[in-house]
Amino acid sequence: MIPVKVFDTPQDAAKSLAAEVAELIRSRAAEGKPVVLGLATGATPLPFYAELVRMHREEGLSFANVTSFNLDEYSGLPREHPESYWYFMHHNLFDHIDIKPENVNLPSGLVAPEDLDAHCAAYEQKIKDCGGIDLQILGIGRTGHIGFNEPGSDDSTITRKIQLDELTRSDAAPAFGGIENVPKTAITMGVATIMAARRVVLMAWGAKKAPIVKKAVEGPVTSEVAASYLQKHPNACFLLDKEAASELQ
Ligand code: F6R
Repeated sequence: MIPVKVFDTPQDAAKSLAAEVAELIRSRAAEGKPVVLGLATGATPLPFYAELVRMHREEGLSFANVTSFNLDEYSGLPREHPESYWYFMHHNLFDHIDIKPENVNLPSGLVAPEDLDAHCAAYEQKIKDCGGIDLQILGIGRTGHIGFNEPGSDDSTITRKIQLDELTRSDAAPAFGGIENVPKTAITMGVATIMAARRVVLMAWGAKKAPIVKKAVEGPVTSEVAASYLQKHPNACFLLDKEAASELQ
């Protein structure tokens, strides 16, 4: 069973996770050691990033010893596109903290087809060279994706290009001003990349996520629901609000 913690509000859950991350960063800093964080985008982690920014501003939490690897990036979007994950991460977190720009890593949405395999292999290698991911933050899509590991992604998958599910594209359509503007593909870490993290924390809010949260936590472990592989992770945990937890037994 995946440990599940249910909170009254997303803000309460985000505060609890931010406290865990701050403790990890500070204890490593005290030993003169770095921390490697795996980061997610989307609506779900926004209160968590807001809390990290607050802790930086008001409590002096420093990110000078942090290296980050983001899960994914849309194909075809330049960094400055408002829906790119590069833009999202800088706008919501990196521009407001003291992480070193050279320690920030995201897959590139603009890599040429002939360079794609090398780009993905280099991303995997860089994670390994940094010592692996200490703590991976996740959201979950209504297809059960973590990162953009859509149905059919098994636990041997690593960083690669993926076809986005139509449900994922329709969920993204409002932000892009119509489904015709939503990229059809993305680059994502694989399920194996995520499973290799030493700790994994998945957040989910709202009744719309309740059915897929139930499948991920209580359903069979299957490539049809990539998040279900977290049942096999030795140190994974789900942080939910009451609505997202409402269908759990
Ligand atoms: C984002 C990511 C996705 C999202 C998921 C949920 O980097 O990898 O798995 O976490 O699509 O998105 P939101 O939070 O917008 O509901």
